[in-house]
Amino acid sequence: LSANNESRGALVVFEGLDRSGKTSQCGRLVSYLEGLGHSVELWRFPDRTTSVGQMISAYLTNKSQLDDHTIHLLFSANRWEKRSMMETKLKAGTTLIVDRYSYSGVAFSTAKGLDFEWCKAPEIGLIAPDLVVYLDITPEKAAERGGYGGERYEQLEFQRKVAQHYKLLKDSSWKIVDACQPLDDVEKQVKEIVSQHIIACQKGKILSSLWS
Ligand code: TYD
Repeated sequence: LSANNESRGALVVFEGLDRSGKTSQCGRLVSYLEGLGHSVELWRFPDRTTSVGQMISAYLTNKSQLDDHTIHLLFSANRWEKRSMMETKLKAGTTLIVDRYSYSGVAFSTAKGLDFEWCKAPEIGLIAPDLVVYLDITPEKAAERGGYGGERYEQLEFQRKVAQHYKLLKDSSWKIVDACQPLDDVEKQVKEIVSQHIIACQKGKILSSLWS
């Protein structure tokens, strides 16, 4: 990943429990960055539009049953199928705001009892985010927000385990934002943090790979 990194886009990932506000914050951030004239795209994982994504979607809505390892690898494959496009876009100067990434992959599967290192392995070599914004909310508070929907993982006890496993993944690229604050306050903090990172990437911060 060492080619011409001049003026590249930033890879910004949002993580957090279900109902932590990721989707609203990603949307607001993208509008803001567009307004400033940045080249920016909103991505999300799972990307349910691909054929792998459709298998994942069927699983999440309980229309199909899959072994825990199998669904883990499908989530990972869904990121791999977008990897080269991701690299192309970043190098062409487009910033990507990504709703969930490998951290969701590992936190959710380990919460089911799969081995932590085994879960990380298929993610090795994907592009490492420049910044991970973790929207921090307790599982109880998240559940109060209009309740969880009907998807497979939206259960309080399960979300508690996910929160514990997310903590094990935190590294220097993470910024923790208190997601219990009013939406507008969260938005303001997110804008500040992300703006700083975009500038660092434009100045030539090198793209690197995950977990190698
Ligand atoms: P998502 O489409 O973000 O759903 P929502 O918009 O309802 O939050 O994610 C669906 C679920 O998939 C979510 O509970 C987290 C889980 N997930 C994994 O288990 N592994 C992964 O790699 C990813 C990206 C998500």
